Amino acid sequence: MMYFDNAATTYPKPRMVREAMARALTEFGANPGRSGHTMSLRTAERVYHCREQAAELFGLPDPENVIFTLNCTHAVNTVLHGVLRRGDHVVTSDLEHNAVMRPLYQMAEEGIITYSTAHVCEGNVEQTVANFQALMGANTHMLICTHASNVFGAVLPIEPLAALAHAHDALFVVDAAQTAGILPVDMQKMGIDFLCLPGHKGLYGPMGTGLLLCMDGEGIRPLVEGGTGSLSAHLAQPPILPDKMESGTGNTPGILGLSAGFDFIRQAEQQDIREHELRLMQQLYDALAQIEKVLLYTHRPEEGKHAPLLSFNIFGLHSEQAASLLNEDGVAVRAGLHCAPCAHKAYHTFETGTVRVAPSYFTSKKDLYGLIKSIQKIAKQP
Ligand code: ALA
Repeated sequence: MMYFDNAATTYPKPRMVREAMARALTEFGANPGRSGHTMSLRTAERVYHCREQAAELFGLPDPENVIFTLNCTHAVNTVLHGVLRRGDHVVTSDLEHNAVMRPLYQMAEEGIITYSTAHVCEGNVEQTVANFQALMGANTHMLICTHASNVFGAVLPIEPLAALAHAHDALFVVDAAQTAGILPVDMQKMGIDFLCLPGHKGLYGPMGTGLLLCMDGEGIRPLVEGGTGSLSAHLAQPPILPDKMESGTGNTPGILGLSAGFDFIRQAEQQDIREHELRLMQQLYDALAQIEKVLLYTHRPEEGKHAPLLSFNIFGLHSEQAASLLNEDGVAVRAGLHCAPCAHKAYHTFETGTVRVAPSYFTSKKDLYGLIKSIQKIAKQP
């Protein structure tokens, strides 16, 4: 199989991740943070180490403010439901995934919040920021946006948007679903208050892992309350992080796999991973630009401006049909709306969806040539 669906989840996972997960079941099989025996303490140490790795990679001073979640969607929901209050206004972008849009929509339907959507002009930072600025109001409590579109790869101007949010005393929340582990993200330097990310994409951890990083988690309310192994005599949820946000037994094998994913990125070097993936997407873009029946929707992917992924269509075919034909040639891609209908509306691809290609560190040039050959063949069909 030529696997190009890494924006949905990276595959394969590095050997060290697979081995760490197997070891978690044998050597670190006790419940961390619950008991005082040796294996429980040893497991808790490993879990804490993963918090340290996340804090270090993403520029968060306090590892205790790293919260384990099920995935990026869970992290986004935790912030939206945990921070927003009745009457708040939220500004977001028109490239958001449903992880952001559905909770916002639901909260607005229930009359809890209002929200406005700013148009992102790919490659035009000034206009994009001006579009956000025009929507900021006296009751805007949060600006939330994706770091990069999961469909088109366009990167949003994070630092200027952080400055804009803070100038209005609003919180700045970033969905780094497609960039964590690939593009540099430093919460302190970039001014990010809450960072939501998956463990299973660019960090090479297993599915079922995600992270919420809180610059200041004091005011956030938990989605789930219950046993934390701390302050057990009190019925009130412990007020401290991470306990406040992590009730119930966590996904220790997943977390230890994710920890190995952090090690993998450090060894492979994030910059090398990014350059490898971006080069592949540039080669793909150049090849597709030569095929008459292929429709491209973005500028050529560039460092700093695009996450390494690409959307296209083949004239006369629905994206799902094209993906199905690619699948017959052993090429795995994701087609359709990618859970991001707003982004497809913004790029006028809502009716057909697009075929999305996303490489990983493990994608070879041979895979890329196989993909290009298959697209050429499909595009030649009458
Ligand atoms: N959100 C993931 C994607 O874009 C699953 O494919």
